[in-house]
Amino acid sequence: LAAGSVALVVASSLAACGMSTSAVRTVAFEQELRIPELAPSTLENGVRTFELTARAGETAFPGRDTATGTWGFDDDFLGPTLRAKRGETVAFEIDNTLDENTSVHWHGMHLPAEMDGGPHQEIEPGQTWRPTWTVDQPAASLWYHPHPHGATEEHVYRGLAGMFLLDDDASAAADLPADYGVDDLPLIVQDRQFDDDDQFELSADGSEPGTLGDTIMVNGTVGAYQQVTTDRVRLRLLNGSTARTYAFAFPDREMTLVATGGGLIDAPVDLERIRLAPGERAEIVVPFEPGETVRLRSESVDLGGILIPATAGGNDDFDVLEFRAADELAPTPDPSWPRSVHADHDAVAEADAVNTREFVLNTRQINGERMDMSRTDEVVRVGDTEIWEVRSTQAIPHSFHIHDVQFRVLTIDEEDPPPELAGRKDTIYLEPNRRYRLLMRFEDYADPEMPYMYHCHMLLHEDEGMMGQFVVIEPGQEDAVGLPEDHAH
Ligand code: C2O
Ligand code: CU
Repeated sequence: LAAGSVALVVASSLAACGMSTSAVRTVAFEQELRIPELAPSTLENGVRTFELTARAGETAFPGRDTATGTWGFDDDFLGPTLRAKRGETVAFEIDNTLDENTSVHWHGMHLPAEMDGGPHQEIEPGQTWRPTWTVDQPAASLWYHPHPHGATEEHVYRGLAGMFLLDDDASAAADLPADYGVDDLPLIVQDRQFDDDDQFELSADGSEPGTLGDTIMVNGTVGAYQQVTTDRVRLRLLNGSTARTYAFAFPDREMTLVATGGGLIDAPVDLERIRLAPGERAEIVVPFEPGETVRLRSESVDLGGILIPATAGGNDDFDVLEFRAADELAPTPDPSWPRSVHADHDAVAEADAVNTREFVLNTRQINGERMDMSRTDEVVRVGDTEIWEVRSTQAIPHSFHIHDVQFRVLTIDEEDPPPELAGRKDTIYLEPNRRYRLLMRFEDYADPEMPYMYHCHMLLHEDEGMMGQFVVIEPGQEDAVGLPEDHAH
């Protein structure tokens, strides 16, 4: 009787939510993995300048009769990998050749709010945006993507996304595979759904937590394989999907976690799998044997008490990427790095927290409010250390992201976080009804009139209002808090 009633609950919930239940397709792994090019840049007077053009194009995906309309930066689909070193000033010229507003947000970057590329920095068609800032944070695998008001899901889904790698002296001194595209691989993992005309399709049926595509792609390659020539390879995993959460694993070996989204962790840790929600990144190092073929997969995700598997994209086990190891593999060292790497993150101490704020996520709202571009939700003071207590009170997945800062998870309920959540992060999956205490410090860049965002990174949720705005001010600027009248440039 008990089992029967559980099944009934699940079935009726599926019906009520209009769930799309299509399983991930099985494909042949026959396409060589595309490695995004490193974006060219010029270095003059200490300023590293990049040019990016957002444009429409088309892409032929395997097994499709018709080319798919896609968007990219300097490309038909996705964008080049940006790379800069701590201490460098970066500058961008970003052209929007699309016929609608877009923006470019630097996810995970510590930078002035007016350079952040959120909904207050939209670029109109035919216009150029020129943000610039000095990179001042530890080496990490960040990414960039549009953030236009109400249309982030669509822009990312069409293909506007790329990685932004930061280097520093500590990462250079670390014993980590670092030959880009050879033993150090950017992996942008996404899913897509195609319609009958082979075009990308976002479901409009209200499914939770958004569109779960039946086709998995890595760097835009469906059914990808990668040649392996070294005995260890570093994978910079980015969940660039709009809604799907993954639990990455190998069938027969552990992988070594070396970095979370905000940079290197205290010490390498071996894991069987790592769960990444939309927006999250992790760097892992994986060992290979000569001559073998093995696939990175995503296993059914434990979403922490969410009873409807299909809501999370966690109902499937599927292969993501095939590795084909050569008969002879060049040796690489065991991952390790100097202790000095952690100066930054050790410097933010819980005892210094001067404020605790609560954020409750439910039904497209945070703390009972939908995103309003003309409302400032939180005001924080530059230099302050704060604790943000974040909680989802809904049994559907959410992924909480804060702009400008990297945080550290102090506790989840009253427990210490697992190792994969213990490093610097800017995005975190929220298991329902658990209290995540996040510690962060707001350094630099006071601007009472330009907000940063915090939001759910499940992009349909974000677009539909699960987002808020905070400003960082100098003490004394309380009366100057306001919002830009004109939202577009
Ligand atoms: Cu990756 Cu506010 O976004
Ligand atoms: Cu959400």
